[in-house]
Amino acid sequence: MTVLTQLPETAMPLPANIQGFTLAPSTHSTRLLQLTISRSVVETFLEAVAEWPVQALEYKSMLRFRVAKILDDLCDNTLQAVLVNTLVDRNTGGLQVVPEGLDSVEQAEDMVKVATAVAHLMGRSNFDAMSSQYYARFVVKNVDSSDSYLRQPHRVMELHNDGTFVEQDTDYVLMMKLDEQNMEGGNSLLLHLDDWEDLERFYHHPLAHREMRWSVPPSKNVGKDVYHAVFDVDNNGRPIMAYIDQFVQPQDFEEGNWLTDLSKSLENSPAILSVPNPVGSFLLINNHFWLHGRDRFTAHPDLRRELMRQRGCFTHASTLSSRQA
Ligand SMILES: [Fe+2]
Repeated sequence: MTVLTQLPETAMPLPANIQGFTLAPSTHSTRLLQLTISRSVVETFLEAVAEWPVQALEYKSMLRFRVAKILDDLCDNTLQAVLVNTLVDRNTGGLQVVPEGLDSVEQAEDMVKVATAVAHLMGRSNFDAMSSQYYARFVVKNVDSSDSYLRQPHRVMELHNDGTFVEQDTDYVLMMKLDEQNMEGGNSLLLHLDDWEDLERFYHHPLAHREMRWSVPPSKNVGKDVYHAVFDVDNNGRPIMAYIDQFVQPQDFEEGNWLTDLSKSLENSPAILSVPNPVGSFLLINNHFWLHGRDRFTAHPDLRRELMRQRGCFTHASTLSSRQA
């Protein structure tokens, strides 16, 4: 039992005590909290939802919220407020969730169920055009023939926000590790906007708020371009970003060079966190003020990594102002 003393301004009343999980700053940063769900809660949860395979969660959206309720009930209804508040708390806004006892790819279905439950306590996962589901599982191997850097192992995937080329709000990103074989390197890279030393310089530049065009390659299954600026403000007037280097289409010399300077600054920031995410664990971040990427791997002929992602919008609290939503 842990008494919560953080989060001075909360979107939902916080429980005096939490049950069934622990919450503490991660070893990487006080901004990234580690939420560990106890083995007994994980086991009881999986028994309680055993009647529904993941396919049932795919076919019936309402069941995603029911599995969320079952998980929160097992935590004496103390998990939901912690998730809602943490995700919109500007000082943190990021979690590494560790469900105890889930650590092997044979448990991948169970991992998807736990992640779905957590996501649907504070949000609703968007349709993922790559998989045509509310989540996407994808494999990274030594050789790749895709048309973006998502599945290419031997290079850094640069820091970015998700959802920059879709019209839906993407308030959160959940990234879960389902499998990892012969992997060396490949940590998740995270940068909180308020830790980025050049935020003020770029945010106050005239191009920061100019609408730009965002367009993606065919694998994303997104038919049309969208237009928005790299920077905006949240519901408290603080800077937020919607940026990815691969998909922004600068219209001229000035935009192209400003974006390249921005990208270089982000990639070289000393505030970047390099976070290993073990099999069965997932990162859950506020997509408006955390950027994410992936470090390079070492080549290996039998390298295999499988990931699951969910991206969605908040249902209980918000970061965006009503004007944006
Ligand atoms: Fe991403």
